[in-house]
Amino acid sequence: MESSTARITIIGCGYVGLVTGACFADAGYRVRCYDVDAARLRNLAAGRLPIFEPGLAELVSRNLPQKGLSFVDEMGRALEDAQFVFLCLPTPQGENGETDLRALQDGVARIAPLLPKEALLVIKSTLPVGQGDAIEAQLRAARPDWEGEVVSNPEFLTEGTAVADFQKPARVVVGAAGAAAADAVASLYEPFVRTGSPILRVSRRSAEIAKYAANYALATRISMMNELAALSEKLGANIDDVRRIVGADSRIGPRYLFAGAGFGGSCLPKDLASLRLQAGSLKLPMASAVLEVNESQRERIARKLRALLDRPLKDARVALWGLSFKPETDDVREAPAVYLADYLLKQGARVVAFDPKVDSLDRAGLGGGLELATGAYAACEGAHALAVMTEWNLFRKPDFARVREAMSNPAVLDARNLYDPEAMRSLGFAYECVGARG
Ligand code: UDX
Repeated sequence: MESSTARITIIGCGYVGLVTGACFADAGYRVRCYDVDAARLRNLAAGRLPIFEPGLAELVSRNLPQKGLSFVDEMGRALEDAQFVFLCLPTPQGENGETDLRALQDGVARIAPLLPKEALLVIKSTLPVGQGDAIEAQLRAARPDWEGEVVSNPEFLTEGTAVADFQKPARVVVGAAGAAAADAVASLYEPFVRTGSPILRVSRRSAEIAKYAANYALATRISMMNELAALSEKLGANIDDVRRIVGADSRIGPRYLFAGAGFGGSCLPKDLASLRLQAGSLKLPMASAVLEVNESQRERIARKLRALLDRPLKDARVALWGLSFKPETDDVREAPAVYLADYLLKQGARVVAFDPKVDSLDRAGLGGGLELATGAYAACEGAHALAVMTEWNLFRKPDFARVREAMSNPAVLDARNLYDPEAMRSLGFAYECVGARG
């Protein structure tokens, strides 16, 4: 008897594809994953992951072949008899802020001749609104016999908690023209919404724009708080107190209101820039302001650091704690720490960083003279300032006597507001944080 298990093919074994594939396999579906990078597939088949994401390695190992997850280096074999083909290809930001669609278009062109006649093509990659229509037209032209549909199913995963986000989503969005296609994709998510999270069936374009809208809303909260942090500093208030008061209002809520080093990562900056371009003559002045405030925040952080130093930047050694754009990931894309490091290096400073998960500058694509230390205290050796750029747990309660001992000039820039300003000053540090008068 033919198995009734859903047959899924994942195209693209990056962060989204791997989380999606592993979670679907764990729900009992047969999942084949394909990537153009054959070495990546070999590593994955041996349980070695290209990224760090909590819980993902365990999930992949647990679901390797005998449990229905496999990594296949031949596209034809990966697609054979698939009912659902999930496109999880990267759509990075191009040089002028536009979405670079080359990997995606190349993927679609290669899939077209091999796509099973009834398979649904499900798009997880974030795409400019209307691209789903273009892809469907391209497939229909290439394959007049194809009876499937293109469905938009955006991901809302947050790095660091992606597995939990997938397994307990706040909502699932399915954008499709046909009810049968929408039902089929929605049914894949039933094991994950048993606590009642909604599966929202909408038009493809609404699904596409909703992904941008969610990131726009999140980025807006952060820029608003960073702007208020600057104002609090100027007027002698403390942004952390302001945050607790504002967040206690249930209409606003306490999450995602932390002032800091500005937002980074692979989604927020890129999606806002893309949305502005898509808006064309509408311009989206608010989105522009959100990006502008983020840029200023990065500059403010750099100015704060410079002010803490006891010498010109060209003669200074600066320690950085944290390189990733947030804790629990090794992703350094658009990371505030990388911006600061670049700025400092350009000014002639020596920069020595420590990050618990970024253990190779080459692998992270970082160069330009940045140095990596083997530990948090080693990074501080001889430093004239320490900038705490990522709120890893490891940095929350360090041995400050050891830090001070190691440094040549005891000065700390706390870009994530982890420490108590009074306590830091009584320990003998020159100290700056975000949103409270120094
Ligand atoms: C984000 C969205 O949360 C997710 O839903 C979407 O699918 C992809 O983009 P991610 O980029 O993984 O996820 O990280 P997130 O936790 O949202 O943080 C983004 C940036 O905002 C980080 O640089 C973080 O440090 C910063 N941030 C976040 C703040 O500065 N303050 C906050 O209160 C929250």
